[in-house]
Amino acid sequence: MKKFYLTTPIYYPSDNLHIGHTYTTVAADVIKKFKKTQGYDVYFVTGSDEHGQKIQEKAKENGLTPKKYVDKIVADIKKLWKLLEIDYDTFIRTTDDYHVKVIQDIFTKLYEKGEIYKSKYEGHYCTPCEAFWAESQLVEGKCPDCGREVHLAKEEAYFFKLSEYRDKLLDYYEKNPDFIQPLSRKNEMINNFLKDGLEDLCVSRSSFDWGIQVPFDPGHVVYVWIDALSCYITALGYGSEDDKNFKEFWPADIHLVGKEIVRFHTIIWPAILMALDLEPPKKVFGHGWILFEDDKMSKSKGNVIYPEPIIELYGIDAFKYFLLREFSFGQDGSFHREKFLQRLNSDLANDLGNLVSRTITMIEKYNEGIVPKPKVQDELDTSLKEMGVNVADKVEEYMDKLNFSSALEEIWKFVRRTNKYIDETAPWILAREDSKDRLDTVLYNLSEGLRIISILIKPFMEKTSGEIRKQLGISSEALWDNAKVWENIEQGTKVQRGNIIFPRLEIEKELKVLDEANQKLIDSRSLNKGGDKVEEEKVEKVEEITIEDFAKVKFKVAEVLSCENHPKADRLYVLQLKIGEEERQIVSGIKEYYSPEDLVGKKIIVVTNLKPAKLRGIESNGMLLAAEDKEGNLSLLTTMEDIESGATIS
Ligand code: MSP
Repeated sequence: MKKFYLTTPIYYPSDNLHIGHTYTTVAADVIKKFKKTQGYDVYFVTGSDEHGQKIQEKAKENGLTPKKYVDKIVADIKKLWKLLEIDYDTFIRTTDDYHVKVIQDIFTKLYEKGEIYKSKYEGHYCTPCEAFWAESQLVEGKCPDCGREVHLAKEEAYFFKLSEYRDKLLDYYEKNPDFIQPLSRKNEMINNFLKDGLEDLCVSRSSFDWGIQVPFDPGHVVYVWIDALSCYITALGYGSEDDKNFKEFWPADIHLVGKEIVRFHTIIWPAILMALDLEPPKKVFGHGWILFEDDKMSKSKGNVIYPEPIIELYGIDAFKYFLLREFSFGQDGSFHREKFLQRLNSDLANDLGNLVSRTITMIEKYNEGIVPKPKVQDELDTSLKEMGVNVADKVEEYMDKLNFSSALEEIWKFVRRTNKYIDETAPWILAREDSKDRLDTVLYNLSEGLRIISILIKPFMEKTSGEIRKQLGISSEALWDNAKVWENIEQGTKVQRGNIIFPRLEIEKELKVLDEANQKLIDSRSLNKGGDKVEEEKVEKVEEITIEDFAKVKFKVAEVLSCENHPKADRLYVLQLKIGEEERQIVSGIKEYYSPEDLVGKKIIVVTNLKPAKLRGIESNGMLLAAEDKEGNLSLLTTMEDIESGATIS
């Protein structure tokens, strides 16, 4: 099987990731899903970049050890990826033992080969960027990357002979014209960094100790970028006993990175790899930034948009669709709530949603819900068919260039064309005029068009693809090559109308709802700021309760009778439970942890005397009990032996 290796950057454990952070990971996940449809064996690595002075200082501010501090944040990052259904193969932490050991070996190897040497460093250091800058590189005396203050730092340090790699790098760029994408970034690297020669790179620090120790000189820790970039090979087992993945997947097919870190990935990283006698990656793609209404998102500016409320309100598919459709991947783009809601209405509710509901409704109305046999074909049918079977090739071409937006636009051209086909053929008139043969053909072609669309959107919108296939009555897997053929749906397939896939939204109202939900999250997060410390203290002084207090809470054993998706909230289930003779409904946010099949028939523990509440419009009578660990894993509580539902817990 053809192998494909794909990475996102290894994220800094910054408090809460905003929608800009999710951009790289969402894109990588879609590439993985897309490559899989083309028959590749894909390996996808992401992770967390946990060392460095900045983290050490933040941990101190919070009264925690650096490891404790990062543990909590990394658990939150993993939770976010789970919520976004990111299908990574390895989440590497730079604090993982196996990684630490290999970094020490790499450092020693480079030192022994003479690629690293000890000397003295004097330069301008930017703490937030963890980067030393030469005087000539500063912009108005400030860090050229982030524009913040730098300070003069002098220390004994180890250096990597980066200066010797200038010509080798230029040669690699020339022989591999696609190595840096988009092309403008390649020119930037050559003109801004390589043209005038490279300086040796300082690869150790001794002014703080939160890092990987240089094994033969314990007063020094390895420079964070060497530590973090090497994750791309240590995650595959490089330098360990089990390096099967490394042998199979290296060199990486794509490192996806934001534009500000292209320099590290296309200069430092390939040079280190060359020094280790390893092949450089095949491609580094530097995508643009997502700005908030033309400004950089930042907590201090108070303009951060978090992904959670958007997903909670409108679902993962709408969020991913917007990110990849609205912005050109290589360029900066601005997030506007109105634009997001308008696209939901135009592309998802009007174009796709309408096509699904019109098609299914007409098959139900005019042919008792059965996909009919096609009969008389005319020119309109041929043009629809020709367009339909050719979209997949166009999508492939765009996806090879990581042009998500144009790939989606090609699919949507066909969605709109199919909607137009309904208007052109006017099935309701055919039904009135009793042109049954023609009507059957039209209904058949509509099901075919929709079937093809369900395959094309799958890498981008897995849930919606599944829902369309369910409504069409197709139970087989959505195989990419089947998007290139017509007449694939079996005649006699029975459609089943379901919920409207994307309801139309009232923009003015939703703007408020979205804004409030985002603000609520910002407020709750700033309330919890520094909360780690408070939490720890709280654990020490847990308030004691009396047996009478405890007796106020009624716990019972309940059997799960059914489990349905909440119609308006992506993360919630609506469960019907049997508690002895009584039946009751509870709405619960356990969808990301359990499928309905996992739950139906199980006995679980519930609180039965909780005041009823409405969760997104549906009444919930009680609460399920579950345990959750630091990594965000969740497990529902149950009893050791099987016991009747309704049994009380005391
Ligand atoms: N730790 C380094 C990467 C080391 S890789 C060996 C790092 N981490 S980061 O957390 O700051 O960034 C992670 C990714 O999020 C980067 O690709 C970055 O470009 C991306 N984004 C952060 N904010 C962003 C936007 N506002 N818009 C788009 N992507 C942005 O850099």
